[in-house]
Amino acid sequence: MEASKAVHVLILLVCLCGCVQACPSFCDCSAGNGTVLCCGKELTAVPQGVPLEARALDLSRNLITSIRLGELGSLPELEELDLSDNLVSNIEPGAFDGIRGLRTLRLRNNRLKTIWPGVLGATANLTVLDLRDNPLVILLDGAFPELAGLRQLELGEGLLYVASGALVGLGRLQRLALGKANSSTLPTTALAHLRGLTSLRLGPLNALALQDNSFQGLRALRDLVMEGWPRLAALAPDSLYGLNLTSLAITRCNLTAVPDRPLRHLVYLRSLDLSHNPIAVIRGGMLGQLVRLGELRLAGGRLATIEPSAFRGLGLLRALDVSGNRLETLEESAFQSPGSLASLRLDGNPLACDCRLRWLSGRRAGPSFEGRQPACASPESARGEALGDLGPGRLACRGARIPGKGARQTAAVTEGETARLRCAAEGDPAPAVQWSTPGRRVLRGGDGGRLRVWPDGSLEVRYAQAQDAGTYRCTARNAAGNDTATAVLWVRVFQPTATLGPATRPPPALILDQVTLSVVLTMGTVCFVGVVVCCFSMLLFWSKVKGPIKRTSEVDNTVHSSGMTAQSEAVKYSTKML
Ligand SMILES: *[C@@H]1O[C@H](CO)[C@@H](O)[C@H](O)[C@H]1NC(C)=O
Ligand SMILES: *[C@@H]1O[C@H](CO)[C@@H](O)[C@H](O)[C@H]1NC(C)=O
Ligand SMILES: *[C@@H]1O[C@H](CO)[C@@H](O)[C@H](O)[C@H]1NC(C)=O
Repeated sequence: MEASKAVHVLILLVCLCGCVQACPSFCDCSAGNGTVLCCGKELTAVPQGVPLEARALDLSRNLITSIRLGELGSLPELEELDLSDNLVSNIEPGAFDGIRGLRTLRLRNNRLKTIWPGVLGATANLTVLDLRDNPLVILLDGAFPELAGLRQLELGEGLLYVASGALVGLGRLQRLALGKANSSTLPTTALAHLRGLTSLRLGPLNALALQDNSFQGLRALRDLVMEGWPRLAALAPDSLYGLNLTSLAITRCNLTAVPDRPLRHLVYLRSLDLSHNPIAVIRGGMLGQLVRLGELRLAGGRLATIEPSAFRGLGLLRALDVSGNRLETLEESAFQSPGSLASLRLDGNPLACDCRLRWLSGRRAGPSFEGRQPACASPESARGEALGDLGPGRLACRGARIPGKGARQTAAVTEGETARLRCAAEGDPAPAVQWSTPGRRVLRGGDGGRLRVWPDGSLEVRYAQAQDAGTYRCTARNAAGNDTATAVLWVRVFQPTATLGPATRPPPALILDQVTLSVVLTMGTVCFVGVVVCCFSMLLFWSKVKGPIKRTSEVDNTVHSSGMTAQSEAVKYSTKML
């Protein structure tokens, strides 16, 4: 009887102990599925007594400053540990050794400055490690030893230095996000170890240019994002060499031109985002190699021109976003197959609503504006109106015309003078004027040199020469038509009054007049006399000091010979020297 009572008490005790151990104070274990919730309880350390069977432990939003060795004890079932939003600045190596089954470790928004080698030693099953929003400045070799299962890694802000072997254990990593880094170079060697990486997101880096072979070894990479590099102005031609991307975003950087050369080999690229870069122009055919491109974004830039046939070769382009730029128009001829364009963002541009945009109105199956109707900035009569509300009839142009071209223009100047030929063209949109010379050279506005086309269309011929004479042709052209006018330039040959013809011109030899000749001769004599006097005085000076010199040579010589002959030889020797 006594014994059975004792057994009962024992069972009761064990039960009680179990019940007490079931949940640490301040925590909530009521979910019943192994989840222990201790979030937002102002805890300053890891609570004791977490049940052995816990599978998820949420310690987020507390005031924990460090994770000490042994504090977490042994939690063989734990798969998920959330320590986000604490003040953790120190994790002792071995602190996670008791939870070998850990799959997800969240350390977002803490105070970690580095991950000491050995801290993550025992967490070989980790698949998600979130280190975002930590002031991580340095990653040392061996920071992630053998995390062979890690698929996703988010690294914090402010990284200054990534050791070349810091990422060595992460061979299966698929997604990596590097936050804002203070360094100005990409950790190319460290990244090269990530052979399984498919997605790479690089936060702001202080680099001016992306060097050649920046992503060597990342053969599996498909998705690359470089966002917010404020000084990045250029990509070296082979900077993306070795990559085979399907999606690339280089946004909020300082690129002033489409990096067509570095992109050329990315023939599997489906999506390209160059938004928020000060790019001003998309030139004809510059993206022509990207034959599979379906989506192109260049929003919020400084695009003023999309040249005709800009998207030549891009037969699969479905979505284009050029909103928030400085575009006046977007012509249908820019597209390889306008019919396949399903989505077009053109809002936020100072559009001139004329016949060039007619292709976007009145077609039932035209591209969708994604609910953002572009508005007209001109002409005056349509300002502020939505492009879609204007019928094709109001999207009108006036073909280029050169009034008064019937009366043929002539100008006559003398050689060396400046001539100006007028070409005042009208039309809507304002026509572009070009000139062709009698020698069929074509001149456009902005061309420099002796012959120059002014913004008003006129042609200036400076320092006219005989061969400039002839018939010039001015062509004005806009979307609705073209017009041509001709002008004739006469150049009178300059007849100087002097009687010397080219044949009697003196030969280009050096001829000195009498005065110069006498000056030269006098100077030469003076120089010669000076040099002679100088030489003589130097000889005199030397002969005064030659005594000691003679003596030393005498001594040198007497070492080898003897007697009077030696002395007379010495005298001869010094005489020779003189
Ligand atoms: C456990 O249950 C809670 C609430 O019932 C749920 O939020 C949590 O995701 C569950 N955890 C697991 C590991 O199933
Ligand atoms: C961006 O480039 C322009 C010149 O193209 C330069 O003047 C400017 O300072 C650059 N911006 C930054 C943040 O470096
Ligand atoms: C100029 O316009 C005419 C029709 O008026 C057209 O046939 C011709 O091809 C145009 N030329 C150019 C260079 O645009």
